[in-house]
Amino acid sequence: MCGIVGYLGQRDASKVLIEGLARLEYRGYDSAGVAVLNGEGLKLRRSVGRLKNLADSLKQAPLHGNMGIGHTRWATHGVPAEKNAHPHPSEDGKVAVIHNGIVENYREIKAELVAAGVKFASDTDTECIAHLVAHYYKGDLLQAAHKAVCRLHGAWALVIAHADHPDLLVVARRGSPLLIGLGEGENFVASDVTPLLPYTRRVIYIDEGQLGTISRKEAHVYDAQLREVPVKVETTTLTLDAAEKGGFEHFMLKEIHEQPVAVEATVRGRVKDGRVDLSELNLDASRVKAMRRIQLIACGTSLYSAMVGKYLLERFTSLPTEAWSASEYRYANPIIDAQTLVVAISQSGETADTLEALRLAKSKGALAVSICNVMGSSIPRMCEGTLYTRAGPEIGVASTKAYTAQLTAFELLALGLGRMLGCDIAADEARLVAGLNALPAQIKKLLEGDIVAVKRCAKRYQGVANFMYIGRHYNFPTALEGALKLKEISYIHAEGYAGGEMKHGPLALVEGTFPTIAIAPRGHTREKMLSNIQEIKARKGVVVVVATEGDAEAHELADYIIEIPACEEELSPILAVVPLQLLAYYTANQLGRDVDKPRNLAKSVTVE
Ligand code: AGP
Repeated sequence: MCGIVGYLGQRDASKVLIEGLARLEYRGYDSAGVAVLNGEGLKLRRSVGRLKNLADSLKQAPLHGNMGIGHTRWATHGVPAEKNAHPHPSEDGKVAVIHNGIVENYREIKAELVAAGVKFASDTDTECIAHLVAHYYKGDLLQAAHKAVCRLHGAWALVIAHADHPDLLVVARRGSPLLIGLGEGENFVASDVTPLLPYTRRVIYIDEGQLGTISRKEAHVYDAQLREVPVKVETTTLTLDAAEKGGFEHFMLKEIHEQPVAVEATVRGRVKDGRVDLSELNLDASRVKAMRRIQLIACGTSLYSAMVGKYLLERFTSLPTEAWSASEYRYANPIIDAQTLVVAISQSGETADTLEALRLAKSKGALAVSICNVMGSSIPRMCEGTLYTRAGPEIGVASTKAYTAQLTAFELLALGLGRMLGCDIAADEARLVAGLNALPAQIKKLLEGDIVAVKRCAKRYQGVANFMYIGRHYNFPTALEGALKLKEISYIHAEGYAGGEMKHGPLALVEGTFPTIAIAPRGHTREKMLSNIQEIKARKGVVVVVATEGDAEAHELADYIIEIPACEEELSPILAVVPLQLLAYYTANQLGRDVDKPRNLAKSVTVE
């Protein structure tokens, strides 16, 4: 997520902005910038890469002034580049805008402004806001901002400055957090509380749809119809460390709880009139129609999302699809030609084995696309198109929100490619699009529910030496991912297995000393999973069952039951994995493990 800081007061604005942005670095970013108002107008300074680059530039050529706005960018539209960094100016340089979120309808707005003669300088969605504000500005910045915001679809936290208003910042919020900090003769605005803590703990949270104005002495808040509303001043008690984690104990837990937003953001703007729209992939339809096979390449958790993707792609495109461990793909001499569509899946976009496997595929003429969480990283730069997951920066080494965002992306990719290939997916598309739209609330319900069974199971079995996870079809990868989550942060051995394989060996392991986690939601493999559970119970094994809520039979059989909301079977891996993430988290935390930075592991494996 992008970081936002604004300041009006008597201090050196550049210093306040840089220090404030530094406190937001944990959010991850790829570029940064400030706009400072002084006698020469609104002066911009932006840079790519670390915030230090911007700070050094300001040291060499200071921007003096005591009002300004600053931003760290996590690219969603437009690769990391100085021209795409915020703040974005209007053509006359009088307006400067910083933005966190996505403008879904920026293409239409940009086309309208270009037709009116506006010259765009960047590839971002945000720039259209600066030009809209300038277009509507007739002397009242709040009115102009309101008119501009009324044209937007999507999500935003906005701060707007104008060269003719040295004592005014206008803010607007929908879908992305924004708050005002109240000082003595100075005021602040930020995307979260951390930049404010050195100066004030008195804050005003801007609510959904609201706009606001701040000057050195005052702050006013308005509803979406520009009617002033009473401000609610609160005193934050968050420490800096707690604030960076959003009040959660670890980044991993925070990111587990960010999954409703990550899934919703990944779908946002990619379904138009009920139909999946993959136009951002810029794939030539005739090229896609020439494909005869699909190969998915990934590592670790991303490989498990690819294994679900395999089932979805074969179902909706009727093309044979393989999910490969990238490290195996490179040495297995796979069949690759110009009729092969290769999809590289990676949270970081920098995983060495996946990069090399992609390089191999491209060298043999494959059509390459990617699913990635970091815009402009190495893997997307090697592909013809990328379906970005919009999970925001994932700090915890154990991947959680990126995984469910990848699964969401695969649902869209399978349906979108199916449509491009002329497959009859309309009925499936209708029910899955409805299901995808319901997911954020369902994940939220799961997270808000007091997952007693998960915590009890974590407490009861934190000392055992083994866990077994079993699932079938769409949830066989869920079993693998659940096992990986547990072992990589708790250091307890855990194994994921296809339920149908138990009789072929692993059943010999079963006894009463360790639990088997059986993922058995409603679907065409549920009956078989219940048989697996009975087999295990008959051998005195302990079974934790992840089942669809209201499944009395599963309830009857389970030693611990974890219920997930009813959903389309193809979406069940997205819901079923959430309690498994929490089981791993609580188990590891109770064992005192370094949950965010487990031993021996790195967040991005950039070496082979
Ligand atoms: C998952 O929790 C691990 N951190 C790891 O398996 C990770 O998924 C794998 O290294 C792939 O990383 P990537 O998605 O950035 O390519």
